[in-house]
Amino acid sequence: MLSTETKAIIKSTVPVLEEHGTAITTVFYKNMFEAHPELLNIFNHANQKQGRQQAALANTVYAAAVHIDNLEAILPAVVQIAHKHVSLGIKPEHYPIVGEYLLKAIKEVLGDAATDEIINAWAEAYGVIADAFIGVEQGMYEKMENQENGWKFFKNFTVARKEKESDNITSFYLKPADGSNVPTYEPGQYISVRLTIPGEQHLFNRQYSLSQAAKSDEFRISVKRESDNDPNGRVSVYLHDEVNVGDVIEVSAPAGEFVLDAAKKSPVAFVSGGVGITPMMSMFETVATVTPDRPTAFLHAARNESFHAFDKDIQKYVDTMDNAKYKTLYSDQPQGFITREVLEEMVDVTGEVYVCGPVPFMESMINELRSLGMTDEQIHFEFFGPAVALQ
Ligand code: HEM
Repeated sequence: MLSTETKAIIKSTVPVLEEHGTAITTVFYKNMFEAHPELLNIFNHANQKQGRQQAALANTVYAAAVHIDNLEAILPAVVQIAHKHVSLGIKPEHYPIVGEYLLKAIKEVLGDAATDEIINAWAEAYGVIADAFIGVEQGMYEKMENQENGWKFFKNFTVARKEKESDNITSFYLKPADGSNVPTYEPGQYISVRLTIPGEQHLFNRQYSLSQAAKSDEFRISVKRESDNDPNGRVSVYLHDEVNVGDVIEVSAPAGEFVLDAAKKSPVAFVSGGVGITPMMSMFETVATVTPDRPTAFLHAARNESFHAFDKDIQKYVDTMDNAKYKTLYSDQPQGFITREVLEEMVDVTGEVYVCGPVPFMESMINELRSLGMTDEQIHFEFFGPAVALQ
């Protein structure tokens, strides 16, 4: 346990650290990657370039420090991040490295203002926070490993099929290279894909939602091809252009908690924008096969017909369901946006709604759903990339 004195130091210095947040995290990552270039095989280089991950990690440490008395309060946030960590194979031995370079960065940026007392207090606090993460992650790894056909870290998968779903989305059907089956998963979960790209020094990792209901012998991911010069697009372009049937890629076990409660029978709506449709496909297929009489709405926004993936698949399921409706709006067309009126028409506000898409889309959908009277407990959402706080 931290002493009262240590806690007081932590609480009084959080605002200073936040004020120097960008400087501290920039120094932290630069020094850490110089000393431990092997970590570049784990971190997303594009997020690094855009400074997104920098903010996420350090801000969470500060937020956790504020709640150091009662870490239970931030457990939901820890669990969400821990899902991402285990999907990427983060290990307990990584934590002291992050801690060491975070403290050194605080010292470097704050200079004399960072007294030994302050640094020692933060070292202690970091230790407590890291232990909380390590404990949660260990439990998740054990669950992954003990599940039927489960594993932890990465495993080789073969691309069994590659199918174009729209002008920019292609599905990859992945089977374990050792011929085994795959573990079951909850609709909405994701996997990490790890790739060696010729000419690149480090491995690339990306998370992709599983885009079909759980099947015993394969996973499916559906990947949007980003533009050639988007730093975030390196993996998607490589997958689209270079990865073909028969190729082997590394895959981690399903993780994530943006999931459908498949046992429920209450009304459910899926609202997606662009490639945000992928986790919805897994959830919707599950509803269609497990609870086909559940009142269900599928609402999707695409740029136009040629970017509209899975249309026929969705329609086919809708036709077999007792109480399902489906609507797509094309933003290239007049009135082609999902407005409050459209949500009102499609979403039963007494039920639950799942939302996934680009950040501005999500913000607008969630705000409209709230204004229609839905509570935060009813609205489930997942952002792409590092979690972003929603105002
Ligand atoms: C992602 C916090 C330790 C590697 C994240 C995210 C947060 C976070 C908030 C974003 C989650 C999201 O995208 O939803 C923390 C905290 C840590 C910690 C508070 C310490 C207590 C570590 C360690 C490693 C690590 C020890 C490995 C050396 C990563 C990676 C990502 C990530 C690779 C994915 C994003 C990217 O690739 O840029 N972490 N983290 N983290 N974390 Fe941690």
